[in-house]
Amino acid sequence: MGKSQNIASNQNLTNKLDDRILHPWEYLEYRGEDSRTFIDKSKGIYLYDKTGHKLIDGPGGMWNVNVGHGVKEIADAVYEQIRKMPYASPFSESTEIAAKYASRLVKYAPGDLKRVFFTAGGSSSVDSALRFVMFRNNVKGLKEKKLIISRHNAYHGSTYLSASCSGKERDKNNFDFADNLVHHLSSPDPFRKDSNLSDEEFCDLKVQELEDKIIELGPDKVAAFIAEPILASGGVIVPPKGYHKKTLEICRKYNVIYISDEVVTGFGRLGHIMASEKYFDIVPDIILMAKGITSGYVPCGAVVISENLMADLDNKEKVIFSNGFTDSGHPVAMAAASATLDFIENNNLLDHVKKVAPYFQSKLAELIDLPIVGDVRGAGLMAAVECVIDKEKRDPLNLQYEIASRINTHCQNLGLIVRPLFNTCVMSPSLIIEESEIDELVRILREGIILATEDIKKEGLWS
Ligand SMILES: Cc1ncc(COP(=O)(O)O)c(C=O)c1O
Repeated sequence: MGKSQNIASNQNLTNKLDDRILHPWEYLEYRGEDSRTFIDKSKGIYLYDKTGHKLIDGPGGMWNVNVGHGVKEIADAVYEQIRKMPYASPFSESTEIAAKYASRLVKYAPGDLKRVFFTAGGSSSVDSALRFVMFRNNVKGLKEKKLIISRHNAYHGSTYLSASCSGKERDKNNFDFADNLVHHLSSPDPFRKDSNLSDEEFCDLKVQELEDKIIELGPDKVAAFIAEPILASGGVIVPPKGYHKKTLEICRKYNVIYISDEVVTGFGRLGHIMASEKYFDIVPDIILMAKGITSGYVPCGAVVISENLMADLDNKEKVIFSNGFTDSGHPVAMAAASATLDFIENNNLLDHVKKVAPYFQSKLAELIDLPIVGDVRGAGLMAAVECVIDKEKRDPLNLQYEIASRINTHCQNLGLIVRPLFNTCVMSPSLIIEESEIDELVRILREGIILATEDIKKEGLWS
């Protein structure tokens, strides 16, 4: 049979709605099976599937729909911008809407982080920051200083370089990475620390590991340390107190640039537009943003760079920063970003997060009484509920149990979407969530965990 006949017969065989998409993080065995829930519309903290079934959007999109779904002001701003001018090239022209938004954004930035490079999303923010660092080091004559240090359990994106910085074991299968450039430290995960260690000792151990790695690779070769303040997709891992400050001090000691990846922690999730200084007490060299910057309404990202780093590039003749995207500072994205910031400011959303987050964390923490829940952790409006076989030993429920996916399936039937990460359920709802809605979210999650526990008991996987 010829190739074209093959394609035609495949089309007849599948004929499903979803059979032309290769989805992100798709198990290939299920490709084209229409097995995913089709989301049709959304409002506030809720999503509706094709049948009209109402679901709480537990992950708030992908940690990004921070102001909630269906904000008319953002829709209007986007519409008006498209009608006025959908696009202008950022390579040769500029726009007032991008310039004004950059000025607003840097007012929230700590220290001297006052220069903004716009990107198309999180991965391109990571890539652009790393390319900027290498470019700057080349311009400074530091041609050997190019290595990047990241951490296990980090997630930084899906371009070649950002994926190389990511450190989630399961994502390492069958892909190639820039292993010559990126080196990983162990995850600063307090839940998995040796129980003989105090939090402070554990923190010092992790900080020492960074220093040892810089010395091993050579301070003249290490360019940057990239770190999410809270390792989000790695399972909402909150490093021990003091870790951020001490790792920054090590970076300063060896002239290593500190890149704070705030793609998730920014735009209000921890009650601040940028959490690095206000929440973690550090002023990094570069802060990365995306996701909540436009609340997910249209794609956008930003790299906020210190004037100190920019000064290294002063008075350089005929040196071009040849890095940019067709969509850098896209006028429609800028309209959505401006309207998102308006919404956050006008509705005192940062104060709302500060008020409601302790309730969110304490209600979720009640789930620890369930027999398979080993840890409930988080900060602000991001949290993880981790399932284990044995609470004492803290061993994760094995991959073949697919426990978080099972919980998600039950929760979806009951009206809640969960972000399943292997043995961990992640929650990062829109920031507009109210206490009564948190009650409902936690009630459904509890029921979903109980039902999934019954499933694995019935199958003899757990007793
Ligand atoms: C911390 C962090 N950095 C970068 C990215 C990549 O962002 P994007 O998917 O917009 O490329 C993500 C995505 O989840 C992220 O969580």
